[in-house]
Amino acid sequence: MNYRTDSPEETHALGVKMGQAALPGQIYTLDGDLGAGKTVFAKGFAEGLGITEIVNSPTFTILQTYESGRMPLYHFDVYRIADPEEMDEIGYEDCFFGSGVTLVEWSELIEELIPPEAVRISITRVKGMEGNAREITIENGFSA
Ligand SMILES: Nc1ncnc2c1ncn2[C@@H]1O[C@H](COP(=O)(O)OP(=O)(O)OP(=O)(O)O)[C@@H](O)[C@H]1O
Ligand SMILES: [Mg+2]
Repeated sequence: MNYRTDSPEETHALGVKMGQAALPGQIYTLDGDLGAGKTVFAKGFAEGLGITEIVNSPTFTILQTYESGRMPLYHFDVYRIADPEEMDEIGYEDCFFGSGVTLVEWSELIEELIPPEAVRISITRVKGMEGNAREITIENGFSA
């Protein structure tokens, strides 16, 4: 499934829809360059889950857990991970295989840990446009 958004608000809105549709135990991966819009999407997704806390990029902590929605959200940003073994130390399996929903920014860096059933989302800047256009590709799940 391919979407195009022309503003952060539109990417946020797509995240809200997907957060509303999310099911317990699902894993969503979010890939795309620095500044592509992964965290913008994640904030919308959290809103769609009913999360009321402020969602920030968890870059320096790798994992942020939000409990105020209709199920827990495990928000990973693995950009600064040096070795996938760090994921074990964080206890990622309890998140990936628990009854909350997991979002992983920069999942390509821990590809070997991503289960085949994960919903894969990539965000890319639309080429030839300096502005706000993004192409968002969703594989392995969800249609809206
Ligand atoms: N269509 C769009 N969708 C999402 N963000 C957009 C769009 N157009 C412009 N932007 C801007 O791009 C930036 C995206 O930042 P964001 O933190 O979401 O990126 P990121 O992919 O999480 O980057 P990082 O890898 O550094 O965490 C924001 O400043 C946002 O306002
Ligand atoms: Mg981010």
